Amino acid sequence: MPHRFKLRRTVIEGVGSYLPARCVTNEELAQKVDTSDLWIRERTGIRQRYIAADGEKTSDLAIAAAKKALENAGRCATDIDLIILATSTPDNTFPATATRVQAALGINSGAAFDVQAVCSGFMFALNTADALIRCGQADKALVIGAETFSRILDWEDRATCVLFGDGAGAVVVSGQEQTGTNEDRGILACKVHSDGRHYDKLYVDGGVSSTGTIGHLRMQGREVFKHAVINIAAVMRETLEIAGIAPDEVDWFVPHQANKRILDGTAKKLRIDPERVVVTVDRHGNTSAASVPLALDCAVRDGRIKRNDLVLLEAMGGGFTWGAALARW
Ligand code: UT7
Repeated sequence: MPHRFKLRRTVIEGVGSYLPARCVTNEELAQKVDTSDLWIRERTGIRQRYIAADGEKTSDLAIAAAKKALENAGRCATDIDLIILATSTPDNTFPATATRVQAALGINSGAAFDVQAVCSGFMFALNTADALIRCGQADKALVIGAETFSRILDWEDRATCVLFGDGAGAVVVSGQEQTGTNEDRGILACKVHSDGRHYDKLYVDGGVSSTGTIGHLRMQGREVFKHAVINIAAVMRETLEIAGIAPDEVDWFVPHQANKRILDGTAKKLRIDPERVVVTVDRHGNTSAASVPLALDCAVRDGRIKRNDLVLLEAMGGGFTWGAALARW
């Protein structure tokens, strides 16, 4: 009988997501800006995206996704003692949008705060929840990615406005005693990185302490693309190495959904079978911090991701920031 020791792991118990009602196709966008369905599909893989209604806020999307995740996990809101919301499009400059979610769910104990790592936000939020749970400061957490990027897009800049959409995704995670082997359920390894030398390659040209305005998203697309494939492949390898798992042992890859060509490029670099990569960029566009939990929810609900499957999540975004997490479902 091999020696087995106890280890507290962060187990993903449930997932949920929410998309606004309004779906905007490439054809509809092409009537407003100088673009075409063909260009958008060929260069990005995107066919459509969802846009929040007037008055529909990031917190509204987050609350809807959180409720579905709680239902999927079979948990009550009052079980939750930590809410981490990843967003770059908060309702207000402060307080944290997470506190609005907390109040709407009827939770009045524990902690709720936002993290800001743009498209990698969900990876940073999950990593933080994992650390707080493993060290015993929290027990059951809601980790949410929610965005209304439609509010910071320059709708006259065809190079960016066709790429993004609104949405939210959430997971319920809890601390559970496990054996300490790779057969355990839960997060087996996770890693995040930042490199602020690339601040100006993907940023919003406004802000509280700079211009006093909200600003619009600006991106050097080709530069971001180049770094994305390199950084994502590197952090995926690093995360797998921490756990001692080979890429071909992973059942499902759930990447940040920015561009189908980035997904294909990364899969090729790691020799991953494209059949094992979850793709939602065609339907959702790039929903920034919401994209990974939205994709995860799709693949769980359609039955692809099943109990005991090994799942690798990853993302890369402004900053630059990037990260990955390996979990057994
Ligand atoms: O989520 C955070 C991470 N973000 C990303 O990962 C995004 C990474 N970057 C990309 O996905 C790609 O760089 C883009 C999709 C943004 C752009 O694709 P690209 O193949 O790098 O195109 P490009 O920027 O080099 O532009 C090629 C051409 C240009 O025309 P010229 O100069 O060759 O005549 C652009 O003006 O395509 C033109 N173009 C468009 N044409 C029609 C740019 N946007 C559009 C458009 N419709 N929407």
